[in-house]
Amino acid sequence: MSDTRTTADALVIFGVTSDLSHKMIFPALYAMAKRGILNVPVIGVASSKWNLAQVHKKATDSIKQADKIDDPDALDRLLAQLRYVGGDYNDLSTFNALKQELGNAQHPAHYLAIPPALFTTVINGLGAAGLTHQARVIVEKPFGRDLASARELNRIALSVFPEDSIYRIDHYLGKEAIMNILYFRFANSFLEPIWNRNYVASVQITLCENFGVQGRGAFYESVGCLRDVIQNHLFQIVALLAMEPPAYQGYGANHSEKVKVFQAMRPLQPDDVVRGQYTGYLKEPGVAKDSDVETFCALRLFIDSWRWEGVPWYLRSGKCLAATAAEVLVELKPPPQRLFADLASGQANYLRFRLSPNSAVALAARVKRVGKEFVGDQHELYLVDEQPGEESPYERLLSDAMAGDETLFTREDAVEAAWAVVDPVLDTHHPVHIYKPGSWGPKQADALITNDGSWHNPILL
Ligand code: BG6
Repeated sequence: MSDTRTTADALVIFGVTSDLSHKMIFPALYAMAKRGILNVPVIGVASSKWNLAQVHKKATDSIKQADKIDDPDALDRLLAQLRYVGGDYNDLSTFNALKQELGNAQHPAHYLAIPPALFTTVINGLGAAGLTHQARVIVEKPFGRDLASARELNRIALSVFPEDSIYRIDHYLGKEAIMNILYFRFANSFLEPIWNRNYVASVQITLCENFGVQGRGAFYESVGCLRDVIQNHLFQIVALLAMEPPAYQGYGANHSEKVKVFQAMRPLQPDDVVRGQYTGYLKEPGVAKDSDVETFCALRLFIDSWRWEGVPWYLRSGKCLAATAAEVLVELKPPPQRLFADLASGQANYLRFRLSPNSAVALAARVKRVGKEFVGDQHELYLVDEQPGEESPYERLLSDAMAGDETLFTREDAVEAAWAVVDPVLDTHHPVHIYKPGSWGPKQADALITNDGSWHNPILL
């Protein structure tokens, strides 16, 4: 599923001094250097008055923190490729200095690892300095903060870059376990007959984290859980689970099917959403003392399509919960006739996708217990698809963007259609319910799902 595009001949990283660069980007660049697939200048840009030695130190520290340095030659190669441009993003001279550093590069990839509020400034600066010709731009999430701002951002990006040169990152799409949802669904024939409203009772997706906002209070205040992970990461998982089979192999078909899922989602209403906030959030640096921003969000949504009509989809995510994991549970309807007494217990079959911290697929079915009685137990048929040497999502996505492969990036229409679903509840919603750190969120979230059972809490073995 790849387009034949020119490989980028320089990588520009706006926000090279950022937390994201420290945690994710330098380790990804090091991994690319180890694999021998990063052979172009890497130009860091930031507003700090740093020199190259400081950037080298930052890169080395970040790689040491994420991993051990097991290939010093690769690290030396990476450091030798690094350049640095410091300056104000509002100042055209910053972009002119970047142009100088780019030298003969004809196809730079500009990666915006910067706060969303700066996206348009940098995109406009690149346009004004003539740095967009045959170039591409890689934009971090969140892409906009509602439908109107996403449209505006798309308009500005499209005024200087063609759509096929805009790479919108959702790092969940670079995760092996999530790519496996697409593969598992369409590489197996046993699933399709039951993958619809006739057999599926409900679908649940949980992304839980047992830590708080970790110093990102100011950023979190501007987004909240719904914008931070649900409108993007969890919706992308829903799209992969719910989409129709793509009509052909290729970027376009895949993306068009995902867009149709977002377009068929019923826009959310305040009663579909339960928002929570962990005790202690208000004391985090950068957080308003009376903040109503949610650190937990649970919602019920419907996809009004032929396949999914009437099937509730329950999504839930939160900080400071009881565990760190991501899991999907597709619960099947019970058999039409209750032939065995023990089926009254409501133990339906299900398919479970564990997405993190490990990745696995489990199909639960009932099997008779030995003995005279016709009673049984639920057993999981368990497939593990972890592969040693997996690429990290950022390594995968950055190298794909450099190579011009758009498969794992999101398209303008998909981003906007996903915003349209959450738009009605971004500002109009019930107040947050307070929950205890280490719990599974506020009890009001249990009431949301009660007609269809209860939340399945990922178990960590
Ligand atoms: C990021 C969010 O996009 O995803 C974070 O901004 C969240 O708040 C993170 O913690 C989760 O990603 P992962 O890969 O650790 O599950």
